[in-house]
Amino acid sequence: MFHLPHIPPQRLPAVLRGMPKAELHIHIEGSLEPELIFKLAQRNGVALPYASVEALRAAYAFTDLQSFLDIYYAGASVLLKEQDFFDMAWAYLEKAAAENVVHAEIFFDPQTHTARGVPMGSVIQGLHHACQRAHQEFGLSAKLILCFLRHLSEADAFATLEAALPYRHHFIGVGLDSSEMGHPPEKFERVFARCRELGLRVVAHAGEEGPPAYIWSALDVLGAERIDHGVQAVHDPVLLRRLADAQVPLTVCPLSNVKLCVFPSMAQHNLRQLLDAGLCATVNSDDPAYFGGYLNENYLQLFAALDLEPRHAYQLAFNSFEASFADEAAKRGWERQLKSYFEGLREHD
Ligand code: HPA
Ligand code: ZN
Repeated sequence: MFHLPHIPPQRLPAVLRGMPKAELHIHIEGSLEPELIFKLAQRNGVALPYASVEALRAAYAFTDLQSFLDIYYAGASVLLKEQDFFDMAWAYLEKAAAENVVHAEIFFDPQTHTARGVPMGSVIQGLHHACQRAHQEFGLSAKLILCFLRHLSEADAFATLEAALPYRHHFIGVGLDSSEMGHPPEKFERVFARCRELGLRVVAHAGEEGPPAYIWSALDVLGAERIDHGVQAVHDPVLLRRLADAQVPLTVCPLSNVKLCVFPSMAQHNLRQLLDAGLCATVNSDDPAYFGGYLNENYLQLFAALDLEPRHAYQLAFNSFEASFADEAAKRGWERQLKSYFEGLREHD
């Protein structure tokens, strides 16, 4: 790492907001703000079990992952048309650009929509057009990752993959999300093998609530190149060493972890421990409309609670580029941009 300029602690929040960064763990359906949920419900004539935006927001008091997922899937029920998917993704991408996100790898959950009769093409094309426009207007490169819902069967995942293949050029990889406990990665061994054959990049949620064993099988059975969450790895020293040695990135989501009671408070988050163990950890927002903040808010609250320093800011942004699925030239370009940003801070010393 190059020699960082001295940055007084009171300047750190502005530095966190201003630094270029990538976001690698964002569920686009989790960026649906209550206002947009109500707008789309009205536009599409969908009835919601909540009387108002305020009543919906008031229901966002989660005790664990499942209590969140129940509301998250209800919110997604207003998405019907290609335009709805575009509007949702565009709202996220405008915010991301304003937060100095220069690259985003965005999860989407097609089964949540196709199960309601929404055509796969409406989902993927709506999201894709928003990604295209973000690149044109903001220079933000945005890529899609298709997630399989792990509470459904592997046969359902295979059917979803089949339905998505006509749009293969619009997504770069596959992931695994939804209810973790009782749905180990092994359940999806064959469909992930097929995805790897197709040249898709592979990630999986593991060790959010589930045990280290799920992280081992995400790596060794699914061939995951990145682990989403992965914070339970600290309970297995051999696994920690494996993740550090192979530099398998973890996409950590601090506000999500606190809101879903994975940690009792931000001060008890283990991100510093993961960095100290030499892991390539990154900071991400997961479902920002539900967990109280977008990417910069995650950085700000994490740094305040753990007393992290400018060198951690540089490291985490650097890791976000390293951990991305962008090509080497793009990574080096963003890493140079990051270095120039920190060097530029020197002039204000
Ligand atoms: N975990 C699992 N599934 C999800 C999540 C999460 O944090 N967010 C959206 N789907
Ligand atoms: Zn997630």
